Amino acid sequence: MSETPKTEHVYDGIEEYDNPLPGWWKWLFIVSIIFCPFYWMFYHGGASGRSVEDIYNVALAENTRLQFAEIGELKLDEPTILRFMAKPSWLKVGESVFRSNCVSCHGRAGEGKVGPNLTDDEYKNVTHLADIASVINNGAGNGAMPKWSNRLVVNEIVLVAAYVATLRGTHAEGGRPPEGRAIAPWPDPIAEPELPPEDPPKNQLTESP
Ligand code: HEC
Repeated sequence: MSETPKTEHVYDGIEEYDNPLPGWWKWLFIVSIIFCPFYWMFYHGGASGRSVEDIYNVALAENTRLQFAEIGELKLDEPTILRFMAKPSWLKVGESVFRSNCVSCHGRAGEGKVGPNLTDDEYKNVTHLADIASVINNGAGNGAMPKWSNRLVVNEIVLVAAYVATLRGTHAEGGRPPEGRAIAPWPDPIAEPELPPEDPPKNQLTESP
């Protein structure tokens, strides 16, 4: 014990052994220094698609693509919107599109802020159900309502249109006063019978590469 060299420091009679760092510790230190530039170049060297965020986004897009493969390319027309107004799980997707793109102007519940109230029976640019989709697709009010055709895919527009259509008549609290004119109620929803488990869309899914 006494063979271990001591440092020169003595404080109040307390001395300090001058033990070397353990070899394994030193090697770990050296190896991590050698490792770090490669790690840095790989993840932060500017190559795209390697950061955690990029990988997440790719996975998310892949997931949406798989989900959308189930419903195919939708049309921006009234029967399609009506069909999805009766599908609660797809309305949730429409709701999430609304949450991430529309609440800043239309409010969390659609009660209206810069944009008009979407929960009453009065509309400025909408007479028929399909007009909701075309307003979202093409914009309105000289761009006050932006067009979304270049930011959302058609399926997202159909689903968010179906969601917005279901907001009608919910009369969210603290909403903007009615604008435009009251329009005729939407047509009756088209409810589809549940498809059997071995329905074609499922097969399509498993066959896709
Ligand atoms: C930058 C603010 C803004 C954003 C973001 C926005 N809107 Fe709008 N929206 C407006 C304005 C303003 C109008 C009214 C246009 C007019 O005066 O004719 C409008 C009108 C509408 C209308 C027609 C309402 C009516 O009374 O005719 C619908 C439907 C609509 N928006 C849906 C959406 C959806 C869905 C989204 C998200 C994908 C969205 N908006 C995002 C501002 C916005």
